[in-house]
Amino acid sequence: MTDLTGRRALVTGGAQGIGRAIAQRLVAAGAQVVLADKNEQGAQNTAKEIGGGTVGIRCDVRSADDAGDAVAAAVEGMGGLDVLVNNAGIEIAKPVTELTDEEFMRVLNVNAGGTFRATQAAIPALAASGSGAIVNLGSVAGMSGGPMLSAYCASKGAVLRFTESAAIELRQSGITVNTVCPGIVSTEMADRLVAPIDAVSPAPFAELIAMRQGRPGTPDEVAGLVAFLASGEARFITGAHYAIDGGLTASLF
Ligand SMILES: NC(=O)c1ccc[n+]([C@@H]2O[C@H](COP(=O)([O-])OP(=O)(O)OC[C@H]3O[C@@H](n4cnc5c(N)ncnc54)[C@H](O)[C@@H]3O)[C@@H](O)[C@H]2O)c1
Repeated sequence: MTDLTGRRALVTGGAQGIGRAIAQRLVAAGAQVVLADKNEQGAQNTAKEIGGGTVGIRCDVRSADDAGDAVAAAVEGMGGLDVLVNNAGIEIAKPVTELTDEEFMRVLNVNAGGTFRATQAAIPALAASGSGAIVNLGSVAGMSGGPMLSAYCASKGAVLRFTESAAIELRQSGITVNTVCPGIVSTEMADRLVAPIDAVSPAPFAELIAMRQGRPGTPDEVAGLVAFLASGEARFITGAHYAIDGGLTASLF
């Protein structure tokens, strides 16, 4: 297993789903973790369940002040910061014709804006670490588009380009910046997509997943890739993105 002994990590959106699995995996690999979520109670409960000194705090990544406070709390609590995982994300599944301006911008604001805000806030601490690593949650939906998902796909596409730009700017500070791009992973977010995708797709969502990915991914499978990119073994990897999707993006059919 990847060794993260001594690494200090902040995971946004860590109260549930993939973020929770990432926090759990980082702790199991020896890291200290602060998980930050707009759902404060959820963050605290999850931190308690994970144990190992994990701390849960409130942070809404739509706010630069919140992002700054979360980084400050992590640095104070752990004595520094080596890893930032930008995992907090939302989806809205609607056709372009029905999506409102506010909804489009809300998805961009959390997924792309939140990634930018937490990254900007964490740069000084990650630079001080000497081996800082930022891992962003993209998606296969950032690598191509999909019906009902224009706002989500646009936001995840933005995360990919932001990752590449930040990676080059931050190389001299010793900070790596990479994106993981999961296919469909079993979480509440994936559950929420079933009805809207069923409404427009030629086959039920579950059948599409079976055809394109074989099966849904698990949060822990994504967490394993995040842990590797956060580790000392991945120091020469930056500006990269990795699909973790059971082959979905590898195949035309
Ligand atoms: N589940 C999937 O199939 C899938 C696939 C590809 C990428 N992703 C990405 O993985 C990440 C996690 O997704 P998930 O499936 O675990 O979703 P989820 O809905 O189960 O959990 C998302 C978490 O983010 C938190 N969050 C939402 N908005 C926030 C905000 N403004 N500030 C702070 N926290 C906020 C929520 O409270 C929740 O705890 C997201 O970025 C998502 O886009 C998920």
